[in-house]
Amino acid sequence: MAREEIKIFGPATVSNVGPGFDLLGFALEAPGDEMIIRRNGTDKLVLINKTESKLPLDPEKNVAAVAATSMLHKLGSCEGFDLIFISKIPPGSGVGSSAASCAVAVMGINELMGAPFDIADLVPFAMEGEKVASGSTHADNIAPALLGGITLIRSYDPLDIKHLPYPDDLWCTVVHPRLEILTGESRKLIPQMIPLQTALKQCGNLAGLVAGLTTGDYPLISRSVNDVFAEPYRTTQLPDFDQLKESALEAGSMGTGLSGSGPSVFSLCRGEEMAASVGQVKKEHFSSRGIESWVYVSRISEAGCKII
Ligand code: HSE
Repeated sequence: MAREEIKIFGPATVSNVGPGFDLLGFALEAPGDEMIIRRNGTDKLVLINKTESKLPLDPEKNVAAVAATSMLHKLGSCEGFDLIFISKIPPGSGVGSSAASCAVAVMGINELMGAPFDIADLVPFAMEGEKVASGSTHADNIAPALLGGITLIRSYDPLDIKHLPYPDDLWCTVVHPRLEILTGESRKLIPQMIPLQTALKQCGNLAGLVAGLTTGDYPLISRSVNDVFAEPYRTTQLPDFDQLKESALEAGSMGTGLSGSGPSVFSLCRGEEMAASVGQVKKEHFSSRGIESWVYVSRISEAGCKII
């Protein structure tokens, strides 16, 4: 008999990872979204929010419902589902809140329908939801949210996504300050034309980061985590951002930058202990400037969305 209900976890993700604007991302073990998806015997998607976050409940405005609708259209299905949000990554935090919602919705419905799609084939549907959130169909949060690990989007047209190897003791600390940066708005601040010298810097750093991750060369990783495309235009709201990066580096981080469009700030670290102490340094940076923050310390998660 067909399954009626499923509960899915979708991880928070760090995108861009310095020089990989719209191309690179990785999954965290926590935090994440939890959603129950249940057949509802109608032809409608019904959104039920049991979290403390404010979420749009109109299926045309809710990212998870838009992603699910795009998948159901492709299947020619009129089945209805309840999408019950149980826990939610804070929206606007920069760790892939909308991507996690889109990913859990398409993954859950796909499972309930007998897995007509491979997980990798769910990415374009989830991207439709992401478009509602940020006005663009980037996949650098969606890909790791669905597939786990560190993912590189080699190409968008056609979509070509690859997992990158990374050292076993690579950890990440993300500090989420109580500030708001809206991805859609902050994307408008990024210049559409990039001078050749700037492009060269970014290409060198991206290639260096990929090589460093693949070979476990931490000093190379550290030299490469630097974004000259987007970060300089997005950090104006984060007080003394250069100082924050410097303090994290002094505390042992292997590179620090904005997580996605921010305001969260990620640092790559070698081992859990280092990640925890770098997290404290960043938290103190914000608290000494009167800004509350939350710290997440996590290994890079091999798993993306999973049934729980
Ligand atoms: N790559 C996207 C951006 C991620 O930087 O706008 C948004 O979370």
